[in-house]
Amino acid sequence: MRTTIRDIMKMKQDGLPIPVLTAYDYTSAKILDSAGIPALLVGDSLGMVVHGFSSTLPVTLDMMILHCAAVARGASQALITIDMPFATYSPNDLPGSLRNAARAMTEGGAQSVKIEGGSRMVPVVQEFVGAGIPVMGHLGLTPQSVHQFGGHRVQGKSVEAQEQMLADALALEAAGAFAIVLELIPSDLAQRISQAIKIPTIGIGAGPHCDGQVQVFHDLFGLYEDFVPKHAKRYATLAETMRAAAKQFASDVKAKTLMP
Ligand code: KIV
Repeated sequence: MRTTIRDIMKMKQDGLPIPVLTAYDYTSAKILDSAGIPALLVGDSLGMVVHGFSSTLPVTLDMMILHCAAVARGASQALITIDMPFATYSPNDLPGSLRNAARAMTEGGAQSVKIEGGSRMVPVVQEFVGAGIPVMGHLGLTPQSVHQFGGHRVQGKSVEAQEQMLADALALEAAGAFAIVLELIPSDLAQRISQAIKIPTIGIGAGPHCDGQVQVFHDLFGLYEDFVPKHAKRYATLAETMRAAAKQFASDVKAKTLMP
């Protein structure tokens, strides 16, 4: 049976840490699903690790839907969350935002959506949840605002920023979000937020005190070599394995030793 948002929320109540990985295609989703990962995120990080863009900003809703539908065909057990890409949701256009989220759910086959932003996004969260669309929030270093931040910098360093982020987390929870990603923030702030809200926090570069952890699987498995985030532990070196296999293939072809 597929994991639901209720299951994910109960994991926090039961004190069970929540592993979350990104997935962008049928084959990887099938592998991660069969490994028992309870929640998969079709992140707009696919803009970088799959499409080679330098940020998530060029990612469109159509791209997200195409990738999410492939993930949905591969993963039968995990909860699937799809990122709403840059400028597809706004408190200034709730009907348009809802139309986009509904497309992400129906055409993409996701069970929930993720949006970036704090208290300003409360009307969007309420609109989506009111229409039956579960929402995961995202605070801290929200990559769609990378130009506003002036780079991929740790967020929530000053006392004011910390108080604001706590208020944002409480506001997202009150608006009906079922979980919140905390990206690139100090560990003690992540701990404080995790203790202050009942819904799970899913950390990435936010220390060990979050209720769950999310990572881009290309980083964990050593597939993406352009940049390796400090917070990503290496569990495999797949790029090296693939390169060696490709070289072996090429030399077999040249030596005419390839079997049929
Ligand atoms: O796009 C993404 O993969 C994400 C995670 C890194 C949280 O938003």
